Amino acid sequence: MSATEALIDVRNVTRHYQRGPDEIHALDDLTLSIPTGHFVALMGPSGSGKSTLLNLISGIDRPSSGDVVVAGQTLNDLSEDELAKWRARHVGLIFQFFNLIPVLSARENVALPLLLTDLSKAEQGERARTALRVVGLEDRMDHFPATLSGGEQQRVAIARAVVTDPDLIVADEPTGDLDARNAEAILDLLRALKTSFGKTIVMVTHDPRALRFVDDAHHLDKGVLLDDEAAARASEALQASLGSAPPTEAVES
Ligand SMILES: Nc1ncnc2c1ncn2[C@@H]1O[C@H](COP(=O)(O)OP(=O)(O)OP(=O)(O)O)[C@@H](O)[C@H]1O
Ligand SMILES: [Mg+2]
Repeated sequence: MSATEALIDVRNVTRHYQRGPDEIHALDDLTLSIPTGHFVALMGPSGSGKSTLLNLISGIDRPSSGDVVVAGQTLNDLSEDELAKWRARHVGLIFQFFNLIPVLSARENVALPLLLTDLSKAEQGERARTALRVVGLEDRMDHFPATLSGGEQQRVAIARAVVTDPDLIVADEPTGDLDARNAEAILDLLRALKTSFGKTIVMVTHDPRALRFVDDAHHLDKGVLLDDEAAARASEALQASLGSAPPTEAVES
């Protein structure tokens, strides 16, 4: 591993899609390093390749060329089976629309990723309870998703993402479906996972508020990363767009 202890090394990665006769360059020779224990935002316009990059980092998809190395493991060296096992052990996934199973309680939803482990049923339940405690929802663990607010459902989804104690948490627009107050609570919680538990978090977001919570923001445009100067300008412009918004304290609770 490099001297900077990068958890994630994306090396000259290209991802092309064939759509009919057209080849779409979702990512074009992209190189990016993310240090262990950082909370990082991936930003950029729609179609710029953010989700594509996130899917490569989490081993959901494979590059057309180049390498993705996570915690010293070159993901391309793994077979489909090995990759699935690797993901289960190392990555926690968080989505925009929570993706909870409606007929399962919060606790059962959180315990789902543990079904693949050797843990006893009792131990799985205990771990799920602990994860729900971390996100502040232990008292709701027997509730079903439909009886929880959007913010609470996302916290359950975060508990599900951390229940296996992964090194890496990836989140694709986790605040996209939440109001301002719940969005800030989720960003705060993700930051706490980094600060208190040393998790590395990579989050795709359009939310300018996220800039106050992350260590770095990388900006994509048409499948390439903006250089540092252009990225700083893009972050400033996003933050300026927040200037006219009312302060969070004023948001009705
Ligand atoms: N499975 C696919 N097949 C063909 N083209 C795809 C596929 N997935 C993504 N693309 C294309 O690759 C480009 C990047 O898509 P991606 O989903 O990474 O964008 P994004 O930055 O996440 O956008 P958004 O903010 O809208 O979610 C787009 O042009 C998209 O249409
Ligand atoms: Mg996307």
